[in-house]
Amino acid sequence: MADRPYDVSTYGERIAEVYDDLPRVPANTERAVEFLAANAGRGPILELGIGTGRLALPLVQRGFVVDGIDASPAMVARLRAKPGGERVTVAMGDFADMAIAGRFSLIFVAFNTFFGLLTQEAQIRCFRGVAEHLTDDGRFVIEAFVPDLSRFTHGQRVGATDVGVDAVHLETSVHDPVAQRVRSQQVVITERGVRLYPVEVRYAWPSELDLMARLAGLRLRERWAGWSREAFGASSGAHVSVYERAGQERNP
Ligand SMILES: C[S@@+](CC[C@H](N)C(=O)[O-])C[C@H]1O[C@@H](n2cnc3c(N)ncnc32)[C@H](O)[C@@H]1O
Repeated sequence: MADRPYDVSTYGERIAEVYDDLPRVPANTERAVEFLAANAGRGPILELGIGTGRLALPLVQRGFVVDGIDASPAMVARLRAKPGGERVTVAMGDFADMAIAGRFSLIFVAFNTFFGLLTQEAQIRCFRGVAEHLTDDGRFVIEAFVPDLSRFTHGQRVGATDVGVDAVHLETSVHDPVAQRVRSQQVVITERGVRLYPVEVRYAWPSELDLMARLAGLRLRERWAGWSREAFGASSGAHVSVYERAGQERNP
């Protein structure tokens, strides 16, 4: 049987039922919200890949107007079912296309979601769309992992992420270092059966993101190793990067 093609909605549609309970969804949400609020000016805010509203809803509770873009109806249905979910405007579609009106003082994309754009071309298009939708003193914040190619042996990886009495969670991946693509399945095995949660990413190094920013007329303002403004360095596994328009300064 031919595999179904993976598209921009596949990840969300398959994971929505368990997303909010996943052990790997970051526990640092409060610090992320703090950081984003401090960079939002007066708003409005736009989140790319808004998902179930993990970050957007606390920002709404703080009084910000928050819009979002997402490709997965199942993820957005979860957001809508939560308190405040009706106050968020969500455009359904691919955030590489930025089919949304208005300008935003903060645009952000968290939890490696930028890498859901599977080609360099789509990632550059996204940066350009962001630049068009930022206010003059607006900021673009990306939270993403720093690629670690030592995770792969001969272009693949199989690892256990959780082993319990009633369930085993495995991560299986294949890696294409030329396209910078990783195709993965989170495999959950229980006595009731097997569940598959597919995810594909096109990773980029921080330096490549900075170059894409330059192509879009943006520049790096700050880079941290996490939402608590930990120092970023050669051993950092992740980064939170803040971009602004080249030639534009906003007071802190
Ligand atoms: C890892 S979840 C993150 C959700 C939320 N931002 C958070 O931090 O909890 C990624 C979300 O981005 C959406 N997504 C991934 N690629 C997308 C794309 N190209 N266009 C629109 N949405 C996308 C998925 O449907 C999913 O809701």
